[in-house]
Order: sequence, then structure tokens, then C-alpha cells
Amino acid sequence: MHNTELVSIEIRPATEADWEQIAAVDSRAFHNYMTEESMAFARQALELDRFIVAVDDDMVVAVCGAYSLEITMPGGALLPLTGVTWVGVSLTHRRQGLLHKLMAALDHQAADRSEPLMGLRASEGGIYGRFGYGSINRMREVAITQPLVRMLEPSPPPSGSVQILDGRDAVPAMFERWDRARRAHPGELSRTEADLRRRMHDAAPGVTVAVHADGFAAWKVTPKWTNGLADSALEVLEFCATTPAAHEALWRTILSVDLVGEITAHLAVTEYDRLPALLVEPRLVRTTALLDGLWVKVLDPVTAFAARSYRTGEELVLACDHDRWLVSEAGCAPTDAPADLKLDARALGPLLMGGSSATALAELGLCSPTRPEVLPIADALLGFEPRPISRLMF
Ligand SMILES: CC(C)(COP(=O)(O)OP(=O)(O)OC[C@H]1O[C@@H](n2cnc3c(N)ncnc32)[C@H](O)[C@@H]1OP(=O)(O)O)[C@@H](O)C(=O)NCCC(=O)NCCS
Repeated sequence: MHNTELVSIEIRPATEADWEQIAAVDSRAFHNYMTEESMAFARQALELDRFIVAVDDDMVVAVCGAYSLEITMPGGALLPLTGVTWVGVSLTHRRQGLLHKLMAALDHQAADRSEPLMGLRASEGGIYGRFGYGSINRMREVAITQPLVRMLEPSPPPSGSVQILDGRDAVPAMFERWDRARRAHPGELSRTEADLRRRMHDAAPGVTVAVHADGFAAWKVTPKWTNGLADSALEVLEFCATTPAAHEALWRTILSVDLVGEITAHLAVTEYDRLPALLVEPRLVRTTALLDGLWVKVLDPVTAFAARSYRTGEELVLACDHDRWLVSEAGCAPTDAPADLKLDARALGPLLMGGSSATALAELGLCSPTRPEVLPIADALLGFEPRPISRLMF
């Protein structure tokens, strides 16, 4: 049970008049103070009509919002996904149940819009499981000691294949390439040009973008000298490539930036990235953190499981709470047949997207087969390659 003082708090859709207070709550929650210019870029990138506020005595004390996104399913279909974002509660109102109320309001909004999936990036790993979200992939943070790196094929990027642009000038080219790349891989999300403009504005000045016909990379260098030796820090902010040639050409470009000591990347190098395989010493791509990635909540399992591909001709009855549905190559339909696999809500997203096997989820206590032979059948039916990745921060 949560604090009864909350009865005086109104939960309602946001209006344009709330915008400055919303930005103030968000700035304090994330220690990220916005200038007027960055507020203008943020405002253009978000859908304020999808924001919900908690108001106490005319003050906005909590906020959450949503982007209308699309996710690529195993097999290539695209499904609408409510991209939960801007979740923040004022210091004065924390641990009184406001997040519970905001998440319930967003669930209703998503259901009203018939969006079968919801997704988010979490600030901390312990918050969202209780709301039925499960992480579908892992986010790999890496550090690379650049002066030690040698590529297996020590040639420069093929002449003319990569063009260097200033961050803000590169947005249309980045958008076109992102939109192609995200359709080609399960787990990746759509984004808007306004989102890219905002990212490039917030990272400026000094963002460099390398654009290839089939991808792009964006990075920022913070200059540093240590005892007279160049030791600048290069942070890769964005990366996408639809072909191995683009991936390699872009990494050759990043690794050839002079005067750099260490390269770091939070989302650019995926869990199964081929970058280490391009290097003489693959260990130089040091994984500094392996974190939860995109969290997905499945609101409409029948629509969601009908939209993905399956790998075998078997069929299984999945169950979660009071819902039961039959999945097979032929699709997915509600059923009254007895369950083969009982799922905790947190298992639905990872299983749907092919991010975790039924066996792995059973080991975590997030699903249980009704017969021992079900787990290998489920692994074969629901497993999918390539495994999901998700590089959008929102
Ligand atoms: C995280 C945050 C939104 C929680 O808001 P809140 O109104 O205090 O949350 P609630 O009181 O509704 O609590 C929700 C539940 O999550 C738990 N919880 C809250 N913050 C948590 C945290 N940081 N880690 C783990 N659990 C947390 C609460 O204990 C509560 O548990 P219960 O379901 O057992 O009651 C708030 O602390 C905040 O604004 N933090 C800074 C910004 C941030 O991290 N936002 C999330 C972005 S993804």
C-alpha cells in the first residue's frame, strides 16, 4: 500500500502549459540541466500529447511520456511499440506510489492505441520487472586502448567510402541509414529525424560523423595530454551499419583517429559484435559492463507472437496470468487447451524477441514447463538468429 496523502494528487494528460515544469522535473531527476535551446530541440522530438503528469497543488511533481515507435520482430515484421520515456518523480514525492500510478496510466494509453508492446531503457536494473517488463538483450559497454590496436588487414578505409560530416549536417543521411538498418535486425527501433537532431545538438560542439553508403558512426573527442603524450578520450555516440563492409570501414575510420588514448562506447558495440574479430588482439575490446538492454512488456501476446517467425513445425500452448495462446509456424491464436509453458510476465518480452531461451528463463524461475520435454521444444521453436540488439537510447 502506498501513502494516502496521494489522494490529493491528480494524474492527467500533459498540456503545452505544463512543458516548462515537465522539463524542470526531468532535469532534476536526471541531473541534466537543459538550456532554452536544448529544451526547444527536446520539445520538437517528443510527443507531448502522449505525456502524463502528476500534479499536486498546480505543481507538476511527476512525469512520464511515450514515443510512438516500431520494433523489428524476429523474421522482419514491424510492430508498434510504446516507447516509455521521461520517467521522473520529484524528490519531495518519491516512494509514495507515483511511479505505479504513472505506469498504469501509460498501460491504459498503450491499450487504447492498440499498441501490443511497450519498451523502455531503464536508469537502474531493479525498477521495471515489477511492472511486467523483461530485458530482451544486453547492452555492452566497451573500452579500447586505441594505440595498441592493430587490425588484421592493416589497410585504410577504402578510398571514398566514408565521408566525414559535422554532426548537424549529417542528420538526413543518418536518418536514412538508421531506418534501413533498424528494419534488418530484431529488436532495433524506429526513430525520427527530430530525435537525431536533438542528439546531435546536445552532443555539439565537436561531434564528428562518418557516413558510409550503408551506415554511419558519430563520435566526440575530449582532448587530453598525459606527460606530453596524446591521450584524448574518444566516445562513440552512435553506430549503425547494414553490411559487414560498412561496419569495417566505419571502425577503420574510428580507429585511425590520431592523438587518442582510449575509445569508449556504450551502445555502439553489441554483445555479438564482429569488431573483436577484425583485430589482431580481440581482447583489446574490453567489456567494461554488460547491462540490461531494451526492456519490453507484452500487452497483447496474441498479436505479438503472431507477428514473429518460428524455427520448427512444432506447436506450444503458452500461458501467462489468465491468458493462453497457441503458437506455431502458422501463427498464434487464443486457446482453451492446457498450457505447455507457464510464463511470468517478465519472461514474455525476452521469449518473444528470441533474446533468451525458455531453458535460460526456466533457470531464472521465470517460466515453468508442464512436462519435461517442453523446454527443448520451446528452445527450438522460439529461438531465433540473429539474437536481438537494440541501439536506440530514448
Ligand atoms: C525511479 C523513480 C521514477 C521511482 O519513482 P517513485 O514514485 O518513487 O516510485 P514508487 O513509489 O511508485 O515505487 C515503485 C516501486 O519501485 C521501487 N523503486 C523505486 N525506485 C527504485 C529504484 N531506484 N530501484 C529499485 N526499486 C525502486 C519502489 O520501492 C516501489 O516498489 P514496490 O512496487 O514494491 O512498492 C524515481 O525515484 C525517480 O524519479 N528517480 C530518478 C529518475 C529515474 O531514474 N527515472 C527512471 C528512468 S527509467
